[in-house]
Parts: sequence; C-alpha cells; structure tokens
Amino acid sequence: MTMFYMPVKVYDEPEAVLKNGSLMKKYGKKALIVTGRSSAKKNGSYDDVCRACDENGIAHVLFDQVEENPSTDTIIRARDFALKEGADFVIGIGGGSPMDAAKSIALMIRHSDKGKEYLHQEGQPGDTVPIVLVPTTCGTGSEVTAVSVLTVPEKQTKISMKHKVFADLAFIDGKYLAAAPASVLCNTAFDALTHMYESYINVKASDYSRMCVHSGLVMWSRSLDILRGNRQPSAEDLTNMMRASMMAGMAIALAGTVLPHGLSYSLTYKMKVPHGKAVGYFTAGYLAEADSKDRDYLLHTAGFRDLEDFQAVLLKACGDVEVPDEILEGAIDELSANTAKLSAVPFPCDRGTLERIAFYTKNHKSGK
Ligand SMILES: [Fe+2]
Repeated sequence: MTMFYMPVKVYDEPEAVLKNGSLMKKYGKKALIVTGRSSAKKNGSYDDVCRACDENGIAHVLFDQVEENPSTDTIIRARDFALKEGADFVIGIGGGSPMDAAKSIALMIRHSDKGKEYLHQEGQPGDTVPIVLVPTTCGTGSEVTAVSVLTVPEKQTKISMKHKVFADLAFIDGKYLAAAPASVLCNTAFDALTHMYESYINVKASDYSRMCVHSGLVMWSRSLDILRGNRQPSAEDLTNMMRASMMAGMAIALAGTVLPHGLSYSLTYKMKVPHGKAVGYFTAGYLAEADSKDRDYLLHTAGFRDLEDFQAVLLKACGDVEVPDEILEGAIDELSANTAKLSAVPFPCDRGTLERIAFYTKNHKSGK
C-alpha cells in the first residue's frame, strides 16, 4: 500500500506571514509564540508574527526559552505557562528545536492533566491545539513533518515523540534565512540533504517520497556553490534552500530517516555536535553501503562529483570533528536496539555493516 499524506497548508511567498496572517484567526484568540532565545528576534520573524497577530486581533504571549534539542522538562514548563496565560493555540518560529517543541507543547496543552511521560507513551490520543509554524532555517523540514524530537534527560539521548503531530499551517519566507550565521546555514543545509538521502535509500521509499526527493535535490543543488565557499547566497538562493528543506521534510514525513540519523543522536547529546553536521558525519558511510546506482543518482543530482567530493564539501562547510571510538561504539550499541531504523535499511545490515558506516569518516578523511 502506498499513501501520500501531507495535511499542512503551506503559504510560500515573500512576506508570507504578513500577507496571510488573517488565516490564523480561526485557530484561536490567544497564541503562545514559541521561539529559541534570540534568533527569531534577530531575523525579523518574531516581529512579523506579532504584527500579523495584532492586525488580526489575536492576543499573544512569548515563550522564548527553547534550547537546542529541547528537553521534555522545557515542554512542560512551556505548557504550564500557556495554561496560566490562557493561550489556545501555538505558533512555533525557528529551526527544528522551536518547531518540534511547538508540536509537543500543543499536544500537552490539549492533554493538560498529563505529565511529560505522555510525550513518549504509545497508543494514546495525539490530538493537539492548533499549530502554526514559521521556519527560519533550511534543514529540519519540521513545518511539514509529524515528528518532534526531544531530549529525554533521564535517558541521556534524543527520542522522537510517539505521537504524530502535523501543523495546521506553515508560512515560508526565505528572508528569515538572511540573518542566519553561516554555520547554521551550512549545518541545516546538510540536514536537509541527509533527509533526502535517507528517505530515498529506505524500504519505505515510494514514488511519492522520491518525487519530493528529486525536486528537493534539484533545488538544493543550486546552492551547492555557497556550501563550497564560492559565493554568498542571494535572496533567491535562500528561498531555494528553504524550499529544498521543505521538500526533504515531506520526503521524511512519507518514508522516515534511517541509519545516519539514528547514529547521530549520541554525537549530538554527548559531544554537542550540531544536528546536520552529526548526521552528515555518518552519511558517506551509508551511501557507500547503498546500491551504486542509487548512490550515483543522489550524489550527482545534488551536484557532487562523487563520495569524496561530498566528504570534502561537508568538511569545508561544517568543519571537522574528531569522534572518540567509544562514542562511535556507543552510537552503534544504541542503534542496534532501534528496530524501527534497522528495519528501514534496504540492504543486509549486521553489526559489521554498522561498524563500517559509523567508522567510515574516520577511515576516509578527505579534503585534508
Ligand atoms: Fe534531521
């Protein structure tokens, strides 16, 4: 059975928030605006959302304490704040962390009598208060996925919320990327790329998810020169990067991620390696194990000459990282228990395969 399901209404145009803000009126009377600590204020997205709310008679309160890789404790603090303030819907602004947090907070507002364990309980209702998302980076695609990845302090790692939660509405405007530091642009661009690669080399891939991958890769390739360090991004590049990220998000909403994402979580938790860089670290190894026709198609459509070229651009754009062997072994141990990720791999995959993938970058450093 093949299904195509993408229920988010996406408005993609310059000044999308201000031009279409009236659409939020039907979602509630008071919004909880969820952001990280500062970027939404610096890139203008927070001001645009406040203005859109004000122009449409929507009250709003701000929760700006979402950290990178938000913890379940943060979700509960935001939920309690929203209840105290009487907010009846959520607007998430930012990269993956604030948008993922917004989905979880919307769930917990609806289930206001539950504790944080509800976020990871299977088989429970996943209904939420309405959610509006405004991405300001070009990696997560969270605006069109049903995923919310949270740090669980008690388990010392990141775990996806068990409930599938899509936003109701998303506003896409490439201008918010203009204020992003180069490191954020590069890391999130590689996150989007890995979403496309992992959803393509995946037993759950379909013609529909691969349609999203193909369009996304073509769009992504137009910005490769920026990641190579050859030029600065134009406004058109920023729009392309944000759209590619959204196409990649649609692809993972349909097919999911697989080994590189599964291996990356402990790198992020234990070494604070940014998500896109951490996933990118394991991507060449995954591509090396894949069918050669798929590998060549994915590399060439994104604009890379070969695997070594991919490695070199990743290193230049995101920087090097020395990962101790014990962290790589720990990542393999963690992934070995993740049957969902392992069962999505379309080639034979035993412990030896995982070792080759995890240690690939260490054993094949290029561009140095
Ligand atoms: Fe990702």
